[in-house]
Amino acid sequence: METMQGLKRTDMCGALTADDNGREVVLCGWVARNRKLGGVNFVTLRDREGIVQVVFNDMTDRAVFEKAEKLKSEYVIAVKGKVSLRTPENINKDMKTGEIEVFATELRILNEAETTPFYIEENIDTNDALRLKYRYLDLRRPDMQRNLMLRHKVTKIARDYFDNNGFLEIDTPILTKSTPEGARDYLVPSRVHPGKFYALPQSPQLYKQLLMLSGYDRYFQIAKCFRDEDLRADRQPEFTQIDMELSFIDIDTIIEINEGFIKKVFKEALDIDVQTPFIRLPYQEAMDRFGSDKPDTRFEMEFVDISEAVKDCGFKVFSEPVRNGGSVRCIVAKGLASKLTRKTLDSLTEYVKTYRAKGMAWIVLEEGNLRSQITKFLTEDEVNNIIKMSGAETGDGILIVADKNDVVYDALGNLRLEVARRFDLIDKSKFNFLWVTEFPLFEYSEEENRYVSKHHPFTAPMDEDVELLETDKAKARAKAYDIILNGTEIGGGSLRIYNADLQQKMFEALGFTKEEAWDRFGFLMEAFKYGTPPHGGLAYGLDRLVMIMAGCDSIRDVIAFPKVQTASELMVNSPDFVEKKQLDELSIKTDVKEKKETEKTEE
Ligand code: AMO
Repeated sequence: METMQGLKRTDMCGALTADDNGREVVLCGWVARNRKLGGVNFVTLRDREGIVQVVFNDMTDRAVFEKAEKLKSEYVIAVKGKVSLRTPENINKDMKTGEIEVFATELRILNEAETTPFYIEENIDTNDALRLKYRYLDLRRPDMQRNLMLRHKVTKIARDYFDNNGFLEIDTPILTKSTPEGARDYLVPSRVHPGKFYALPQSPQLYKQLLMLSGYDRYFQIAKCFRDEDLRADRQPEFTQIDMELSFIDIDTIIEINEGFIKKVFKEALDIDVQTPFIRLPYQEAMDRFGSDKPDTRFEMEFVDISEAVKDCGFKVFSEPVRNGGSVRCIVAKGLASKLTRKTLDSLTEYVKTYRAKGMAWIVLEEGNLRSQITKFLTEDEVNNIIKMSGAETGDGILIVADKNDVVYDALGNLRLEVARRFDLIDKSKFNFLWVTEFPLFEYSEEENRYVSKHHPFTAPMDEDVELLETDKAKARAKAYDIILNGTEIGGGSLRIYNADLQQKMFEALGFTKEEAWDRFGFLMEAFKYGTPPHGGLAYGLDRLVMIMAGCDSIRDVIAFPKVQTASELMVNSPDFVEKKQLDELSIKTDVKEKKETEKTEE
């Protein structure tokens, strides 16, 4: 094996252009392919900036050529050579460096490589578990390298933007105390305090509020957060927030500053001009129009409430939910009548059932023909009224769900997305931002049998709803806002409570006794007594933002070392058992006897 002694890299492979013609360069990287054609070896050499073709010619230098004969994929090499324009017929338009090639005069083989378990190239069709087990090789692939470089750029732009706007980057503890943010905590046992545990932060929420109280005025942090919750494509147990908080502000100021950030990040990272201000949808309006608090507005198909048209009809499936306070709503699948075959309608019906709906009714308006399984239960007037109210025309299909409102929102909202996906109605080139505001302060948790915070217990109620904390929690609205991009919540925040009495009322509304509240959050309520400015803020899910910017479907593709569904990391194999001695030091005994028993095959 050779070394870099006396050789200095001059350029990155992927950065060379026709302007470099005639220059002598030193390049380093990994061999992508070695094609042998007669007395010439064409080696494509890869580094993180891209790929360039290096030519080893028998005629130029026999010894170097013979050495190049040995090169295999993923060998690590350094090459000295001369950049030369390709002849017009050899120009490769699909390659960034396709106008040039490098004629090698010196070759050093810095390391050899075994055959990799999958090709190191873009868009490979390999199962995820293999990619994650060999993540260091997966990360060598150009698409992953682009994703992580984009992530770096977004983080850097965030730092610059918030710094330029007077925000200070201050880091907050990782070993901390449990704060109720909705998910389970990851706990860390204390050796010095047997039986006691730190919690890893679900977010820096309390610390950033206390920094406002301390007078830092504007704070931000690229913060690691930990939540032990069920994983999905846009959720990881360990993720990163761009977290910010500021004092002496109202909602408009927070929104304006954050729209400025989004504008800058899209312009500088993707050269895309985002139009601001974004629309603001009150929560209830978002639910009524899209059945979702994170609506995807890249396509239409908004809900129509047809309860009025059917409230007195003889068809109980429709009239009863309306009588019981629910509703009958529909979406109109524009121009899809011919595609809504019986088979498709049946599978869409099965789809809505997974969202607790009892079924889906449909009216398909074909040329001169009306197909429906429900017209026999309705009068002609009622059918005509439904069609009129829905706005449907010949060629359209009306898809209807009747139930309690929360079921209608959930089932029809998801159906709207499913129809858009199946029939390719989503314009993937769009970046549609919006704010959802005026969230409910509480939501009812069936699991816990009580009201819990929709955001977190530090969110301020709307001024006109403060009294509802004691009288009608379900109706109380919050000074909270989420930022939505293409149907994904990329961030959320609120104005905070900054008064000890109101904070205590809030804890009481959540079912804490005064003692419990003081026991857990006494430090906060105590702090509020010493001059707390009005403050508020927001946190972005950095992973989600970068995922959408990179055009990926999962945040795994923008995180260097992510975890799988079972919260394991397949490369280092974590979590893992530890030595008994380590547990003893922590005063911990587990009742897991056999190692093998808990070692399931991972995804
Ligand atoms: P929230 O809980 O809404 O608010 O989180 C803010 C944003 O973080 C992202 N996010 C996640 N990303 C990946 N994996 C997860 N498990 C995950 N959970 C959340 C989302 C979300 O919008 N302290 C408050 C913010 C505030 O009020 O200022 C908070 O954490 O994009």
